[in-house]
Amino acid sequence: MNTLTIDNTTASWRRLAPRGYLRDLPDVGVGEPVAPVELPHKQVLRGDALQRLGELPERSIDCVVTSPPYFLLRDYGVTGQIGLEGSVEEWVASLRPIFAELARVLKPGGGLWLNVADTFSRAAKSGAAPKSMLLAPERLLLALGEDGWLVRSKVIWAKPNTMPNSVVDRLNTTYEPIYFLVRSPRYFFDLDAIREPVTPSARHLDIAKPHRAARPLREAVEGGASPILGTNPGDVWRIPTKGFRGAHFATFPPELIRRPILATCPERICTQCGRALKHEVSTWRVPLGGSRIAAKPKDRFVMRFPERWHTLRQVGALVPCGCGAPTVRGVVLDPFFGAGTTGLVAEQLGRDWIGIELSDDYARIAEARIFEARIPGAGSGP
Ligand SMILES: C[S@@+](CC[C@H](N)C(=O)[O-])C[C@H]1O[C@@H](n2cnc3c(N)ncnc32)[C@H](O)[C@@H]1O
Repeated sequence: MNTLTIDNTTASWRRLAPRGYLRDLPDVGVGEPVAPVELPHKQVLRGDALQRLGELPERSIDCVVTSPPYFLLRDYGVTGQIGLEGSVEEWVASLRPIFAELARVLKPGGGLWLNVADTFSRAAKSGAAPKSMLLAPERLLLALGEDGWLVRSKVIWAKPNTMPNSVVDRLNTTYEPIYFLVRSPRYFFDLDAIREPVTPSARHLDIAKPHRAARPLREAVEGGASPILGTNPGDVWRIPTKGFRGAHFATFPPELIRRPILATCPERICTQCGRALKHEVSTWRVPLGGSRIAAKPKDRFVMRFPERWHTLRQVGALVPCGCGAPTVRGVVLDPFFGAGTTGLVAEQLGRDWIGIELSDDYARIAEARIFEARIPGAGSGP
């Protein structure tokens, strides 16, 4: 396979990267041949997000996980930083072209997770009367909708360890939103990778109906190959904030971005058909709760209300797609890399990553942190 070398100084990537074509998007997979270009995997690209994104080839990234600077919250002390614009509208205007570039580099079936929270206005010129919430995330999301993004989920990141606040005329803010956006109505989303684990009841072990599984549920549980999975994790995630000692601003708690990466960045992708490899999944149907209904699976009530049944799953090995071509890892991009939590978690989960960061100091912190996680005790690395 031909590969192109990285030339950071030109937009030649864009010109040379094969355009490909949009195949019928499969339920799982992004459905495009993987562009034969070398991406700067596992690198922090220093500089302005808009400029550095322009150097990446189109349709090359599987998912984006990011948290841009919030409006008027922090001064990162670097020229060209986003977040200190004169008004919330100007902040939206700074971010919009960056999201347009993200749309270009994302594969058509890719997803983007955006953590961004609000600020209270201190002056009318910021965009709202003093004391009012600026509704910055809502303004940004409406603009992104106009630019062709589909907003598929709003996750509430509930922070159980929020600091007490001395404010007496409003509620303390104890959550932040995380939006999940896509470019196309059909996109890669591996729900099985993030379903909640369950412990089946003794009765379920006896009466579970093998659905797409040859063996009884009891055997699967006792075999212990992987957890038995139940429901969708829902959109309220209780995760404590977790400071990182090397950085003086809030970083993602690693746990917060595990689900986004697991669900929207494929583990392996076939270079020929572009599809994500699927896992073998065994399923069993069990009745919900312990009612009379459950004791009589042929009950007409159950037949009329099949949702009273619940599917348990167990995820097995990855299954080759049949092309016989080499496979590559999915790639996660974070254009506001900060202390590099996205890269750190992507590596833990066996995915490739690319970071962009304006501040040299944070870029160095991120590299040292990721290197230290690879080889504990090795210090800041080469
Ligand atoms: C909210 S922090 C990201 C924190 C990150 N999620 C983590 O876990 O460490 C936002 C980052 O964006 C960077 N930044 C600000 N303006 C930027 C720009 N124009 N281009 C690239 N990075 C920028 C800041 O230096 C800061 O590190």
